[in-house]
Amino acid sequence: MTEPVLDVHLTPEDAAVALRAEALEGLTARPKWVSPKWFYDAVGSDLFEDITRLPEYYPTRAEREILDARAAEIAATTGAHTLVELGSGSSEKTRLLLSALRDHGTLHEFVPLDVSPSALTDAAHAILADYPGLKVHGVVGDFTEHLGLLPGTAPRLVAFLGGTIGNLIPEEREKFFSSVRDVLDPGEWLLLGTDLVKDPDVLVRAYDDAAGVTAEFNRNVLRVINRELAADFEPDAFEHVALWNAEQEWIEMRLRARRAVTAHVTALGVDVAFEEGEDLRTEVSAKFRRERVESELTAAGFELHRWWTDSQGRFALSLARVA
Ligand code: SAH
Ligand code: TRP
Repeated sequence: MTEPVLDVHLTPEDAAVALRAEALEGLTARPKWVSPKWFYDAVGSDLFEDITRLPEYYPTRAEREILDARAAEIAATTGAHTLVELGSGSSEKTRLLLSALRDHGTLHEFVPLDVSPSALTDAAHAILADYPGLKVHGVVGDFTEHLGLLPGTAPRLVAFLGGTIGNLIPEEREKFFSSVRDVLDPGEWLLLGTDLVKDPDVLVRAYDDAAGVTAEFNRNVLRVINRELAADFEPDAFEHVALWNAEQEWIEMRLRARRAVTAHVTALGVDVAFEEGEDLRTEVSAKFRRERVESELTAAGFELHRWWTDSQGRFALSLARVA
């Protein structure tokens, strides 16, 4: 079997340097925080796949329902030669787009980009095996930094699925949308998945499931820090907290110290002390309304061409064109 091409724009050494700088900043800040991209080591990527199958975690199923219904129309509208996928993970749902574009007869190349080398490598091999003749060109990279280096011939369709856009705060989103806009030419396309504002109980359950998988996923960031920075955080000393911030309309994930704890982070040469009940902020997951998606896309130079939701109105897919 032929091998997928893999470009590495973020080496393990780059990732280690970035983690060190961000961890020093975040763990010594008030309130304390860590950046969500460190969730996704091999264990974290597998835990995220488990999350997508939880009864409470509806976004994956809702987005798949929309893709199932609209993939043929997306293929016909865009006629894409290259499908780029940012934060691609397992690229499972993406198969609906790949199949539709292949059936439409325009697809040449698939470019998945992810910070997680393990998820990317597994996905690239699996897709290559199931789509013979397709050029698979994976990129290990950070979608907030490495978009300028994307391969592939026009017209391109950039897919950003899973509601991952909601893991960026508004100013990061603004930068992100502009940088996607900047690498595309007029007439090329962005397909964006956004989770929608809804009953806070439904939202909180999606991020605090009964089986505790999301809690393990959240605590995994401490295991990554322990391993990469020679630290001694005790993951079980922290409680997983998911809360709805009604003002910002986002879910906040935190790790709350069950008692006073101090961790030594050898690689940073610092002790990090938590009081009982003190939070480490790990992630936000913003929820959207159509007006906000449309105005952010428009501000970056996109035109919203289609807006689709699942039958229960929980999740939306936007197809936007560079104006
Ligand atoms: N698209 C998949 C996975 C979503 S989970 C789905 O819809 O199910 C978010 C994915 O984005 C993970 O695979 C994670 O490794 C990746 N990711 C998170 N931050 C990233 C960043 N800054 N740059 C590139 N990939 C990132
Ligand atoms: N993009 C996903 C989302 O916001 C990532 C995610 C799901 C996540 N569950 C999580 C991130 C729990 C951190 C903790 O829905």
